[in-house]
Amino acid sequence: MRWRPAMEQALYGEHGGFYRRSEGPAGHFRTSVHASPEYAGAVARLLLEVDEALGRPAELALVDIGAGRGELLTGVLAVADPALSARLRPYAVEIADRPAGLPAAVEWTDRMPQGVSGLLFANEWLDNVPLDLAEVDEDGVLRYVEVAPDGEERLGPVLEEADARWAARWWPAEEPGERVELGGPRADAWAAVVGGLERGLAVAVDYAHALAGRPLFGTLTGFRDGREVRPVPDGSCDITAHVALDAVAAPALHSLWTTQREALRALGVSGSRPPLALASDSPAEYLRALSGAGQAAELTDPAGLGGFGWLVQTVRMPEPPSLAGLAGRRTL
Ligand SMILES: C[S@@+](CC[C@H](N)C(=O)[O-])C[C@H]1O[C@@H](n2cnc3c(N)ncnc32)[C@H](O)[C@@H]1O
Repeated sequence: MRWRPAMEQALYGEHGGFYRRSEGPAGHFRTSVHASPEYAGAVARLLLEVDEALGRPAELALVDIGAGRGELLTGVLAVADPALSARLRPYAVEIADRPAGLPAAVEWTDRMPQGVSGLLFANEWLDNVPLDLAEVDEDGVLRYVEVAPDGEERLGPVLEEADARWAARWWPAEEPGERVELGGPRADAWAAVVGGLERGLAVAVDYAHALAGRPLFGTLTGFRDGREVRPVPDGSCDITAHVALDAVAAPALHSLWTTQREALRALGVSGSRPPLALASDSPAEYLRALSGAGQAAELTDPAGLGGFGWLVQTVRMPEPPSLAGLAGRRTL
């Protein structure tokens, strides 16, 4: 079987799909959302800028794609201004069932709502969108990689036309043994959710690479109980591959691409330590600030979560001011 259907079944199968398990993603790995409430705080600030740019609509949507157990929406609702909360429509788009204890305001759905205006946010969703793998054979020809339920791989047929075209444009590979992660389905998945926005901002955050720096042998891997494991498509582990984020951007829209470090700093997340004087004036406040600074440092660490890519696309709205002034941003 090719990797795409194998991944689809292993991650999302009705019976035994990894992401349908009760423990949720947080039971196996830590995303930015779990790392710190500072993350939800930054998304809440971005939401305010989107609201402003849209002229404070009667209904402002916040759509979390691949919402896990709704942790990000819960965090944003906890800090949102009551006046904004009254107009806010939070949607969790998620394959897994609605967890108990989620704020009643959150609409839980497995489909992107249509015709909404606001902020669409997808943290670590695209790396879990199933995709096929290809490898260059000894004659220099790209062939699909097929996988057995125990994870054993072998080379299959040559690429179909659409995948061959995608590889030629976005991930050229010629040397025998080189691998390509065929990202067409991810671009389609992204275009489909962004298409639900009438107006607003769409942000995808993920482990990312661009044309100039594709990994030669791919990035497909597994995670279980906090550890990296061999990717076996039997529902026992997460299966993930980094995202060719430049190839995902919906071409008709204005886009920019930056790192999470730059984006979060622009949104006020700073890893700097509180002044020492605070320790004697107000030890409790100092400790709180110190812990916040430690979490912010983790979120913005260039060798870790801070190195993630942020793809930002605008749909019939100007860029939010904090991102418009970013250092190190690239337009696509
Ligand atoms: C790595 S987890 C990220 C969870 C959360 N965004 C976070 O940052 O903690 C990816 C989530 O995306 C969900 N997912 C994947 N494909 C989906 C789809 N097509 N529609 C809805 N949810 C999806 C999975 O079930 C899983 O909960």
